[in-house]
Amino acid sequence: MNITKQAVIDNYIPEQLSPGNTAEAFAPSNIALCKYWGKRDVELNLPINASLSISLGELGSRTEITESTDGVDQVKLNGELLYCESRFARKVISFINLFRRELDQPVSISTVNNIPTAAGLASSASGFAALTLAINDFYGLGLQPNVLSAFARMGSGSASRSIYQGFVEWHKGNREDGMDSCAERLDLDWPGFRIGLLKVATGEKKVDSRAGMQRTVESATLYQSWPQQAAQDLATIKRAIDDHDLELLGQTAEQNALSMHATMIASWPPLLYWQPESVAAMHRVWELRSLGIPVYLTMDAGPNLKLLFQSEDEISVRDAFPELMDLDIVSPFD
Ligand code: PMV
Repeated sequence: MNITKQAVIDNYIPEQLSPGNTAEAFAPSNIALCKYWGKRDVELNLPINASLSISLGELGSRTEITESTDGVDQVKLNGELLYCESRFARKVISFINLFRRELDQPVSISTVNNIPTAAGLASSASGFAALTLAINDFYGLGLQPNVLSAFARMGSGSASRSIYQGFVEWHKGNREDGMDSCAERLDLDWPGFRIGLLKVATGEKKVDSRAGMQRTVESATLYQSWPQQAAQDLATIKRAIDDHDLELLGQTAEQNALSMHATMIASWPPLLYWQPESVAAMHRVWELRSLGIPVYLTMDAGPNLKLLFQSEDEISVRDAFPELMDLDIVSPFD
């Protein structure tokens, strides 16, 4: 039988908690350069492959936990009190219940995302990471970052990487309880590295990444080649970061993202997150490259693009993509 999240957490936290009155934590959003796609354990969000990301500095989620004054749990998102049966509120409460267990202490949890909503970035990674950090503080758990990363992973896989800034590797791990499937900050900086958040289409996606990766693993024969490719790409991307080789990093990250999308397209029913605007934007990136500007793209389970380039090409990238606002260009090492 598979191990439950509760059993894993119970092993790491005391039976008697000592809650404080308030706790606050921030976690950055992150963009994977080598993607996580496919789980070997759905309950614990254990990945089939290791992945590598770059965190987005000050763009992310801030979460505050306080004792609730009116005797019931309250969940707020961007200042708005949510209906307790809403999807977001239920996810947050069931996550905090894993730690609170029998303790009868209603809390108020407020999350504020400062990611430009126009950038179309998912905030579940930074949200679960910030929530895990705030829980650690609120209940006085004193857990180490690798344990917090493994716990955040149980909320959303990519949240394991949002515990850290900079370039981050999430090890796939081998243990059955998943506690070695946690992220680690790579001791590698790249001050001139830039990410452009290019929103090309709006609208709720119909299939979230959890369902999308499950469908791919179960139905796409092409998925069989993914774990090996991801392992190779991760090693290449690490080397490229070490050498500040944008061409190698960009090529590998772009091919990694498009290969992930190829496995989705090869699923049944087919899964295509791209909109016509996404494809048009890809062509603009390729056109820019043909003019000698080193800019590359990556995409997650959605229609939007993230551009990878260096500070010296920022003007050319802005000229080619005038829709990029100041806030949409991230300098992760500032
Ligand atoms: O963490 P999840 O379950 O939202 O999955 C994230 C999946 C991708 O964004 C497509 C890839 C990644 O590594 O972030």
